[in-house]
Amino acid sequence: MTTSTSVSSQRWSSRWLFVLAAAGSAVGLGNIWKFPYIAGENGGGAFVLIYLVCIAAVGIPIMVSEVLLGRQGRSSPIHTMRKLAKASGRSQRWSVLGWMGVLAGFLILSYYAVIAGWAVNYVWLSGSGAFEGASAQAVGQSFDDFLASPFELIAYQTAFMILTIWIVGRGVTQGLEAAIRWFMPLLFLLLIALLVYSFNSGGFDQGFAFMFDMKWDAVTADSWLIAMGQAFFTLSLGMGTMMAYGAYVPDDANLGTTVVTIAALDTLIAVAAGLAIFPIVFANGLEVAQGPGLTFVTLPLAFGQMPFGSIFGALFFLLLSFAAITSAISLTEPALSFLVEEYNAKRQRVAISLGVICWALGLGTVFSFNVWSDVTFVGGLTFFDSVDYFSQNILLPLGGMLITFFAIWLLPRGMVEQQLGIENPILGWAWKVVAGIVAPLGVLAVFLSTIWPMLSGLWQ
Ligand code: PHE
Repeated sequence: MTTSTSVSSQRWSSRWLFVLAAAGSAVGLGNIWKFPYIAGENGGGAFVLIYLVCIAAVGIPIMVSEVLLGRQGRSSPIHTMRKLAKASGRSQRWSVLGWMGVLAGFLILSYYAVIAGWAVNYVWLSGSGAFEGASAQAVGQSFDDFLASPFELIAYQTAFMILTIWIVGRGVTQGLEAAIRWFMPLLFLLLIALLVYSFNSGGFDQGFAFMFDMKWDAVTADSWLIAMGQAFFTLSLGMGTMMAYGAYVPDDANLGTTVVTIAALDTLIAVAAGLAIFPIVFANGLEVAQGPGLTFVTLPLAFGQMPFGSIFGALFFLLLSFAAITSAISLTEPALSFLVEEYNAKRQRVAISLGVICWALGLGTVFSFNVWSDVTFVGGLTFFDSVDYFSQNILLPLGGMLITFFAIWLLPRGMVEQQLGIENPILGWAWKVVAGIVAPLGVLAVFLSTIWPMLSGLWQ
């Protein structure tokens, strides 16, 4: 690793560190908080299958495209797009993709820090035994009380944001890599401990069946949309994160196998999180289709009824916090690398400024749960829901689709084949069909069906 701080000269220490870093970005609230509850609401097994199809047919090709562009450009996403558009004789306007990513990163991180803050708070709450033997009503009330207190939410959001900024300010090797070297192995250990616990909870068979039994009647057209949106969000696609991380990938790493490993790790961890959670919920006769409250109400309630529940409950929320921090640091990278490069600025300073803006934006999310809970925007959504909807359902799919389109159809001939090490022309064509046609069309379908109801709502 060089000591220079310029973006183009930085490299991950090895291919494995990139795999861990990208998996760290991918594995986050999306896997442990969101995936189990949307699988719960959409019927379990059949939804899991649809989700796997989306990961394979859309997620993997888009991730390959992003990492490939990143490594080819070796700059921040905005500069990479500028450089590659120029090299391919295309309009400089393609750099707008980089800007969309910066915007999406800001928006997502602003609320991500608030929800990660809840996880941090629940480490203490669970560990202190606050939920031991508590009634459903008491556990629900304590979550409601917490959400009703802006000061408490801000305190945890601030703490999480400070830690994130401190880590990213230290740079790729000393910040990102150091955090990843610690948090990822701990995350795996915690997950294994929780799986063993849930295996012995008495509800494992039921939880397992719920995750893998195909109940097609619970699947609606909406389930496809949700699965596709989740595939984007969970793999950190469509906003340049993987492009920014790809800029630091060593030249000799094979992109295809690397990306498949990352996607496999992410999927494995989402499924493992479901297998750790559902048995505990079933063992206590609770309802799995609880929506977002599954993690912060149902689970504490379930842990509260079980032997050593306080310890394992605290470990669960620690797992969630670790997963969130390694994703949060990746959300800043597109903007951070751009500012460092553009203004030759110090990473630390840029990190602090970005952090402050993001924190301030996050206050909107904090207030959405209390003082602004009645304030709604387009479609009757609160500030938090609007930011979440706009970033996840519009910016990410649009970004992902355009990035892949650019990578497959507009780069100079041979560049992709060379980056991917593809020599066989048939393989090259197969790749073009999957990544250049199937993936963008799939995303387009989902994208249109997401924004259509919104647009038609605006006309009326
Ligand atoms: N992949 C992360 C998760 O599942 C969220 C994320 C999205 C991170 C986009 C970076 C970029 O929680």
